[in-house]
Amino acid sequence: MASGTRGVAAATISLAVLLLIFCFSPSTAAAAGVPSIDATRTRHLPLPRGLLRGPESVAFDAKGQGPYSGVSDGRVLKWNGDKLGWSTYTYNPDYSSEACTASLLRPETATEGHCGRPLGLRFHLKSGYLYIADAYKGLMRVAPGGGEATVLVTEVDGVPLRFTNGVDIDQVTGEVYFTDSSRNYNRSQHEMVTRTGDSTGRLLRYDPRTGKAVVLQADITYPNGLAISADRTHLVISSTGPCKLLRYWIKGSKAGTMELFADLPGYPDNVRPDKKGGYWVALHREKAELPFGIDSHLLALRIDADGKITEEMRGPKGVRPTEVVERKGGRLFMGSVELHYVSVVTRK
Ligand SMILES: *[C@@H]1O[C@H](CO)[C@@H](O)[C@H](O)[C@H]1NC(C)=O
Repeated sequence: MASGTRGVAAATISLAVLLLIFCFSPSTAAAAGVPSIDATRTRHLPLPRGLLRGPESVAFDAKGQGPYSGVSDGRVLKWNGDKLGWSTYTYNPDYSSEACTASLLRPETATEGHCGRPLGLRFHLKSGYLYIADAYKGLMRVAPGGGEATVLVTEVDGVPLRFTNGVDIDQVTGEVYFTDSSRNYNRSQHEMVTRTGDSTGRLLRYDPRTGKAVVLQADITYPNGLAISADRTHLVISSTGPCKLLRYWIKGSKAGTMELFADLPGYPDNVRPDKKGGYWVALHREKAELPFGIDSHLLALRIDADGKITEEMRGPKGVRPTEVVERKGGRLFMGSVELHYVSVVTRK
């Protein structure tokens, strides 16, 4: 295992050097010239003690409470402010603290298949339902107040969900859009999805009125996070491996078709509306990123309604955000699948 890891690391470095040599052009610095937010120093909302980590998504309810975030033991936690910290909000039917609390002998990688791994989170504001895209359990929902979540979808068109990942909701109709990143690989094999160029991901829609889910688009390369546009005519979907954003039309003359929306200088994860018609897109790392040199990389990009980059956020390479959500007063909440906290960045 260890030598295999070293081999991969060496290969990654030489690939990175090659990329630097061949790709170092103004386009790699595609975000240059736009306003930049410095996220070197951030406020932390630390997870409870122990081996808990990875608050991947950051959602807020209709009252503005939260953030809510899914963590490595399979639960979704709620932040109740500095004094009270995090509390358990919801969990899947297979969760138990005995079986799912990680220890040094039992890391979360050994339990996440059974205990679940919530990735995307989104509230339907009118009903107060929280929808959860859990990598292993599928699409779930919990009623206002939390508690045990109900599993809604585990397969679509006879094909099991293998790697449920992103979710967003049409707040008017209540329809739920979500992604299954691959038919071949689960979350623990996510690097294979990128490395093999796997293109078996699906964009799906769940209708809460009928309880049925349908495939909108199959054969997508690593669909990850997604967001419905402010005018509800289309979805913007991350395609992680190819470093792109895709646009899927729900309404209008192009309904049912998908097209390129933006080329990105890094690997995108979740996409969230910026409330100005555009989106915040969290990036894991830059396309041509070296593991040495200046300790700074792109954390996130703000993209306008036409796919143009209008703002960037930079910070240390050890931070690889999965979601960025902007709240009142220019406060940006940042989730991560690796860290032990949610970060709060304040725009100066
Ligand atoms: C992911 O899929 C692989 C291959 O099918 C399997 O061996 C592994 O147990 C799965 N991982 C989890 C956590 O379910």
